[in-house]
Amino acid sequence: MADMSKVIDVENADLLLTTTKQVRKRLDLNRPVPRELLLECIDVASHAPMGGNQERNRWIIVDDPAIKAQITPIYQAYGSSYLAARSEGAEGRQERVIESASYLVDHVADVPAWVLALRLDRLPADAENFDLASYYGSVAPGVWSFQLAARARGLGSAWTTFHLAREQQVAEILGIPATVTQIALLPVAYYTGDSFAPAPRRPAAEITYLNRWKAPVTDD
Ligand SMILES: Cc1cc2nc3c(=O)[nH]c(=O)nc-3n(C[C@H](O)[C@H](O)[C@H](O)COP(=O)(O)O)c2cc1C
Repeated sequence: MADMSKVIDVENADLLLTTTKQVRKRLDLNRPVPRELLLECIDVASHAPMGGNQERNRWIIVDDPAIKAQITPIYQAYGSSYLAARSEGAEGRQERVIESASYLVDHVADVPAWVLALRLDRLPADAENFDLASYYGSVAPGVWSFQLAARARGLGSAWTTFHLAREQQVAEILGIPATVTQIALLPVAYYTGDSFAPAPRRPAAEITYLNRWKAPVTDD
């Protein structure tokens, strides 16, 4: 069998993985997003790992302005107060993220498509870490894969959760049954400009331990 690892262009793969950013201010609000393109991204996302190989993730594409208009005030009410509370004293990168997220809160209704990630079932209120890790660990990789696949197709997206503060209200608007959990709402649009820079991150050796908690992975 051919060694498939050789087919992957590592440089390009790393470029995709390190420069797929949450896109908010650079979303093109005037260019419609074809539904087929979103379905392609969801097809890719379905290959992400999931506990027990159970395909229980679901997606809703919302591109009807009338439906977006019903959800937008819910999104904005919580988003604005959350960001206002965090903007006090925020500096540097944190301040920029809050400013960018505030822009998205203000313009969310105008983003051509929203993609909601959901999972069948709801966890009991007393769920243990094992259940939580298995449950959310089965959805999050797919959402990220969706974002990567979107980026590769010229689409920007932002992982947002403000609507979850009023999850039930959103569920009623979209006809989502009480047995289903909403995970994220991604506004999606073509992005403007053509390059993204990786954000500064702590080096692996600083956040990785060897064999024991806090034991350094390198000698120096
Ligand atoms: C679980 C989760 C929830 C998030 N919720 C929001 C949100 O409600 N609004 C928003 O603008 N960004 C949200 N983000 C995006 C983060 O702010 C963003 O990933 C972080 O600032 C790092 O930026 P980068 O992904 O562009 O590198 C969320 C990300 C995750 C993983």
